[in-house]
Amino acid sequence: MDDAKPRHLGGSLPVPNVQDLAARRDELTLTPTLLDRVPTPLPAKEQEQIPVVDLGRLLDLAGGREEEAARLRWACENWGFFQVVNHGTPEETVEEMKRNVMGFFALPLAEKAALAQEPGEIEGYGQAFVVSEEQTLDWADMFFLLTQPPSYRDLRLWPSNPPTSKNCLENYSAEVQRVAGELLRAMAENLGARDHSDMTRLAASQAVRMNYCPPCPEAHVDRLLGLSPHSDAVALTLLLQVSPVPGLQIRRNGGWVPVMPLPGALVVNVGDVVEVLTNGKYKSVEHRAVVNAREQRMSTAAFHGAKFGGTYGPLKEVVKEEEARYRSVSVEEYTKLMLSSKLDGKNIIIVPKVNELKTEESLAKLSVATLASLKQ
Ligand code: OGA
Ligand code: NI
Repeated sequence: MDDAKPRHLGGSLPVPNVQDLAARRDELTLTPTLLDRVPTPLPAKEQEQIPVVDLGRLLDLAGGREEEAARLRWACENWGFFQVVNHGTPEETVEEMKRNVMGFFALPLAEKAALAQEPGEIEGYGQAFVVSEEQTLDWADMFFLLTQPPSYRDLRLWPSNPPTSKNCLENYSAEVQRVAGELLRAMAENLGARDHSDMTRLAASQAVRMNYCPPCPEAHVDRLLGLSPHSDAVALTLLLQVSPVPGLQIRRNGGWVPVMPLPGALVVNVGDVVEVLTNGKYKSVEHRAVVNAREQRMSTAAFHGAKFGGTYGPLKEVVKEEEARYRSVSVEEYTKLMLSSKLDGKNIIIVPKVNELKTEESLAKLSVATLASLKQ
């Protein structure tokens, strides 16, 4: 069957539960001196902010399509990040999703642990991208589920508490997938591709990762992060800020720009796969999440990509063969490589075309570790 659920994609080494660790900490560590060490981002008005794209206008529901398409192009070429507003997802769906994510992480550890990742599997409650005992760990727990297409789901891992979780996740997942598809279609138009399906197929599969980051008074950006610097190895990510505490920062001009999500907006970022398809015209941008000293932080990322059975490679219609900087790779091979790497800055795992590694045979000889460490 075309849409059979992919199995044994790889997983992470088990790590201690961060929420539990944080809950058992001694209150006395909350001294003003420690709090002083937490860097405060500059006030929002002094910061450059990521562009905002109005999806309703982009779809020409009330005029302004050209202007919005230009804004999207600018965002993709110059930022790699933007917020999408007026995206047509009912407010109640978004609010219910937030309540459910908060409700899930507030459950007793034992109840969450019943949905723990199996060894070597990415789905479930636990951690991702831990590949060695020596690695510095992120100060966050996560809950990861494949959500689209429906045949990829493992419903045994879908929470039944809060009671509305399953239904809500299903609705939210479908809405966000639609938004991702509409954005990819507009990108295809901006790129001058006549066959939009080369881009829209990049929203055919979706995985949702709910992140939980407890407060940590000693959090110092150089030593402890909610999420290490990385670019997303997928095609397009749509992120929902679940709790009010911001924490996402993006790499720009050698510094880190905090993202301040607008109410109701989704934060969108171009992933490595879109960078490969556009031959670097649209770039995935490195980002990280910082820990808040006093408050817990929750976010939910929906990652989109093509279905298994397809490939990732430069768009034939827009990228000249001799100018292509990346080779094509099967979605399955790519996903396995991604899940066996650690988050380590911007690290496109598709082997660049411009070196001696051109044949399938030489590729097969490389170990996964070597491939994963090949920098762009
Ligand atoms: C991610 C991610 C940022 C955040 O899940 O890949 O970058 O703010 N999340 O949680
Ligand atoms: Ni990310």
